[in-house]
Amino acid sequence: MSLEKKDDYDHDAWLKEKDLTPIETVFLTALVWLDKRLRIVDYLELLETLYYRANLQMPKSHTEQYDLDNKFWYWYPLYSLGFLSVIAYLVASISGALLGFYYSPSTAGAVAAGDATAAYDSVVLILQDLQFGYMLRSIHRWSAQFMVAAVFLHMLRVYFTGAYKEPREVNWILGVVLISLTLLFGFSGYVLPWKQLSFWAAQIGVEMALATPLVGEWAAQLMFGGFTLGQATLVRMYILHVFVLPFVVTALIALHVGIVWVQGIAEPH
Ligand code: HEM
Repeated sequence: MSLEKKDDYDHDAWLKEKDLTPIETVFLTALVWLDKRLRIVDYLELLETLYYRANLQMPKSHTEQYDLDNKFWYWYPLYSLGFLSVIAYLVASISGALLGFYYSPSTAGAVAAGDATAAYDSVVLILQDLQFGYMLRSIHRWSAQFMVAAVFLHMLRVYFTGAYKEPREVNWILGVVLISLTLLFGFSGYVLPWKQLSFWAAQIGVEMALATPLVGEWAAQLMFGGFTLGQATLVRMYILHVFVLPFVVTALIALHVGIVWVQGIAEPH
C-alpha cells in the first residue's frame, strides 16, 4: 500500500475507497494528517534511503561470509574484547562524571609533608559520607582497570590473529595511540586522590620525564607544572583526566570503531 505524493492528491477519497481495518484507518488517518502539514512521508522516505545506503556499506559478518553457523568457534569470545573495552570506557566515564561532583582538585590544607589535602579529604568524603559513594568509586576504579586489561588483551587478540596486517595498519597505529592514552588516563586518575601512592607515582613520572633526552625539562614542566610536585601538578593531572583525555579518547575510539565498521573484521590468518 503506497501513498502517492502529489499536491492535488485527495487523501480522504483514497482512504474511503480502501477496505481498511480500524487500526489501519487510525494509522493512515494520522499519517495523512501529519503528511498534509509536515510532509513527513518525504522525510520517512529520506530516512529509509539513508538506512539502506548505510547498510549497503555494512560488510558481511564473518559468520555470513564463511558460512560458520553451527560451528563451535562461531562465537569467537576473544573478538569481543574491543567491544568490552568500549563498555568499560562508558562505565568509567559515567561513574567518573558523577565522582566529579564531589572531588576537589586542591592541595589546600597541607602544611607539612604528608598532611591530608582537600583532594584527599574529598575522596574520603566520597568513601565515607556519600550515599553509594564507596560503590561509585569502586565502579570507577574497577571499570578503569578492566578497561586497561581488556584493551591489552584486545591488542594481543589482534596481534595473534594477524588482524593488524594490510589493510588494517591505520587501525593498529590508532590502537597504539589508544592504549597509550588509556594508560595515561589510569596514571592521571591515580594521582588525583593525592595520597602517598599518588604522590610518589607522580614523583616517578616527573623523574621519568626529566630523564628523557633533550626535551626532558620541557616535558616535566608541561605535564607536571614544574620539577617539584604541588598544586600545579594536581590541576594538570585533573584537567588531563576530566577534560583533555575524555574528548580525545572518545573521538579516537569513534574513529577506530568506524574504521572497523568500514573494513569489516579480519579473517584469522
Ligand atoms: C580504547 C581502546 C580500544 C578500543 C575501545 C577498541 C575497540 C575495538 C573494537 C570494538 C574492535 C572490533 C573488533 C573487536 O572487538 O575485536 C576493534 C578492532 C581492532 N582494533 Fe581495537 N580497540 C582499542 C585498542 C586497540 C589497540 C591497543 C590496538 C592495537 C595496537 C587495536 C587494534 C585494532 C585492530 C587492528 C582492529 C581490527 C581487527 C579486525 O579486523 O579483526 N585496538 N577495536
